Amino acid sequence: MEGKKKHKILVVDDEASQRELLEMVLSGEGYQVQTGSSGEEAIQKVEEGFFNLVIMDLKMGGMGGLEALRRIKEVSPAIQVLIVTAYASIDTAVQAMRSGALNYLTKPIDLEELKIQVEKTMELSDLLAENETLKAQVENIFQNSKIIGKSRRIHEIFDTLAMVAPTDATVLILGESGTGKELLADAIHANSPRRNGPFVKVNCAALPENLLESELFGHEKGSFTGAVARREGRFKLADGGTLFLDEVAEMSLLLQAKLLRVIQSRSFERVGGTQTLKTDVRLVVATNKDLEEEVARGRFREDLYYRLNVIPIRMPPLRERREDIPLLAEHFLTLIASRNNKMIRGFTSEAMDLLIRSRWRGNVRELENVVERAVIMAKGDLIRPEDLPSQLLAAPEPEEEREKEMVAGQTLSEVERKAILTTLDLTGGNRTETARMLGISRRTLQYKLKEYGFSEKKKEQ
Ligand SMILES: Nc1ncnc2c1ncn2[C@@H]1O[C@H](COP(=O)(O)OP(=O)(O)OP(=O)(O)O)[C@@H](O)[C@H]1O
Ligand SMILES: [Mg+2]
Repeated sequence: MEGKKKHKILVVDDEASQRELLEMVLSGEGYQVQTGSSGEEAIQKVEEGFFNLVIMDLKMGGMGGLEALRRIKEVSPAIQVLIVTAYASIDTAVQAMRSGALNYLTKPIDLEELKIQVEKTMELSDLLAENETLKAQVENIFQNSKIIGKSRRIHEIFDTLAMVAPTDATVLILGESGTGKELLADAIHANSPRRNGPFVKVNCAALPENLLESELFGHEKGSFTGAVARREGRFKLADGGTLFLDEVAEMSLLLQAKLLRVIQSRSFERVGGTQTLKTDVRLVVATNKDLEEEVARGRFREDLYYRLNVIPIRMPPLRERREDIPLLAEHFLTLIASRNNKMIRGFTSEAMDLLIRSRWRGNVRELENVVERAVIMAKGDLIRPEDLPSQLLAAPEPEEEREKEMVAGQTLSEVERKAILTTLDLTGGNRTETARMLGISRRTLQYKLKEYGFSEKKKEQ
């Protein structure tokens, strides 16, 4: 059957003969099989790699199947588990199903029944993966916004957006390259009372100083060589609407002074002109630079920085909101596949797993490019790991390095804060679950969150 070979199974039993039997039968059916001899080993393997299905004996030395099952479901809620039990312990089997096992097999295992159960489980596993993305997509339609995401970080952006968009306040959008700064600027305009007015964009990095000046403020005929006619600048063209200054940190100090004046007086002159022009624009600016650092180095005017920094919004890097990856990947897939007239249904679970684990230094833009390449490469109707660039295949982010990145050289209270906030993200904002995972009381968690400035109201949405 198509795709069968790619399904991954982990067989866990403390009896070697039983492990070997199942491994032989299931490999014979074309599945990729790994084995483990204890609950501890099972958990470790599930943490390390992706499996569609775990088949596990309930009665093992050490941790025991029930406890292992519970922990496996914590590590990977989407994983399917079939348990193996002696006929005498059906009660425990029922208990296991309450803890998230899908079904059970009784010993001695009927091999035909095993094959059928496994095949059914794989169908279910594929179906569930598809459903998850669908459900999440529907949750995420925010009025007039093309921003896709369901993570806590994106919800916070939506909250701020809802508050800020209706005002005329200047917005400063910060964030790494490819995080969606421009998309947010679009959303601010589209959700503002100025939405029917012009939305004008200027990339301050794209032009040398003198051309940028004329681009922004316009020029009079003959003001410089090539100025054959009077031309209006973007500040005038954006009158009644929104002006988006992208890469604002690249502006020269001279132009920064002129920009400051427009912000303060809402008036300016064309290059080579004397007439003072008025304009009514709402400013949105963006940069991937650290503006405070630019100020400290004397490359950005401090007074302008304060003028722009009225409402700063920081777009989080993709690696800090991995929950959004499946959603974004499916979104780009649909878009790009139809643009290329290719019929592609989705990603194999394994390919998706790779996407979720990758580093994404180029953030959403890089993800978009990877999906585009995969759509072009894909031979079947599903995107497989082979269709992804080799650096993704070779280097799913090593857990150890991520941990180092997370803790090295930081104060303990910083580490604690990070642990709390990332766990809160992981549980989708569920405080009870977060406290449980961190091994602290709910009260301690509440107390800490309050310390970090989280209001009571914002809990478990
Ligand atoms: N949350 C999102 N949902 C859907 N698409 C997104 C999202 N974030 C970014 N994108 C897409 O990713 C690409 C990059 O986004 P955008 O241009 O807004 O990033 P940027 O922060 O302005 O990057 P740069 O600093 O490099 O200019 C665009 O094609 C955009 O449509
Ligand atoms: Mg941009």
